[in-house]
Amino acid sequence: MQRNNYIYTFIYDNTQRELCKLESRCIFDKEEKNKLLFSDKKVEPSSSAFIRKRLEISLFSEDYSSLIKEIKNKNIRIDGFKVEYLILDGDTTKYAERLEKLREIGYSIDGDPEYYKPIITYALCYYQSTWFFGTLVKNSFDWEKHKTKPYSYSNSINIDIAKALVNIAAKANKETKLLDACCGVGTIMLEACFAGNKIEGCDINWKVCRQARENLSHFNYTTNVYRSDIKDISDKYDAAIIDLPYNLFSCADDDTTSHIIESTGEIADRLIVVSISDIASLISKAELKILDSCSVSKKGKTNFARRIWVCEKNGSVVND
Ligand SMILES: C[S@@+](CC[C@H](N)C(=O)[O-])C[C@H]1O[C@@H](n2cnc3c(N)ncnc32)[C@H](O)[C@@H]1O
Repeated sequence: MQRNNYIYTFIYDNTQRELCKLESRCIFDKEEKNKLLFSDKKVEPSSSAFIRKRLEISLFSEDYSSLIKEIKNKNIRIDGFKVEYLILDGDTTKYAERLEKLREIGYSIDGDPEYYKPIITYALCYYQSTWFFGTLVKNSFDWEKHKTKPYSYSNSINIDIAKALVNIAAKANKETKLLDACCGVGTIMLEACFAGNKIEGCDINWKVCRQARENLSHFNYTTNVYRSDIKDISDKYDAAIIDLPYNLFSCADDDTTSHIIESTGEIADRLIVVSISDIASLISKAELKILDSCSVSKKGKTNFARRIWVCEKNGSVVND
């Protein structure tokens, strides 16, 4: 089996499956399978709604007693540690045995354990005949605080999708310069700022621009929100996210959609387009190549789905 530096575990429901897989292809260049993925790429779990835990592998062995010996040889001395058992797909180890193994690892570490507020968490897991030991980082879900942002609309995109859109656009590269081309009240911008991405926003409507600025400053994020038609933005971006108007508060006919996509294509090489209607032909008309796509339905509303297209300009080279 190929050894990687990290093991990631995922959490998602049926409505989010396709989106999680698309995010995973963009971040890791491969799909998670059975909510599990091995990779050499280091990604913060809290930057995604779907990554639950990351184990940084420090030791592994097919033989459990050899692994324990190696842990002892490391002479780990630390107070405030915790050891957890990470159950991966295919692991049938019984609860009592798991507890026994955790106790053994605890006794192999020199220091006082701390169960409630550990300063470091170690984990043990078993996958395809191999035992793995390392440090565990969990998704803090701190970003859920954005749910209480001062301004929100019924057509605002949900937080899980917003986080995925940022990752799909930036491909986990924090240096990527992003634009939220139709930012509304800034739902996507909040997630980009939380994860440490560089993002600016633009919206034609002065009221939502003011509300986006207030939402951002409420959480102490500082970035630019331009009150402008996207056609009048001249700065260049590595990637842009377009959550197209839904015909609720603003017009969403083919001309408007083409105008937004074509104007954004002038200033960004990579476009992530979100729409509730099939606009594939309008994307092609804008001379953009569709590289990937997925659909996300709303929980409990199977007849309402958003489609997400990952596009690049024909012939453009986008750096990772
Ligand atoms: C579906 S909403 C975006 C919602 C946003 N993602 C949020 O969560 O609040 C589409 C937005 O596109 C904006 N819009 C429409 N035409 C535009 C244009 N030509 N340039 C910039 N923004 C535009 C609308 O004002 C509207 O706020």
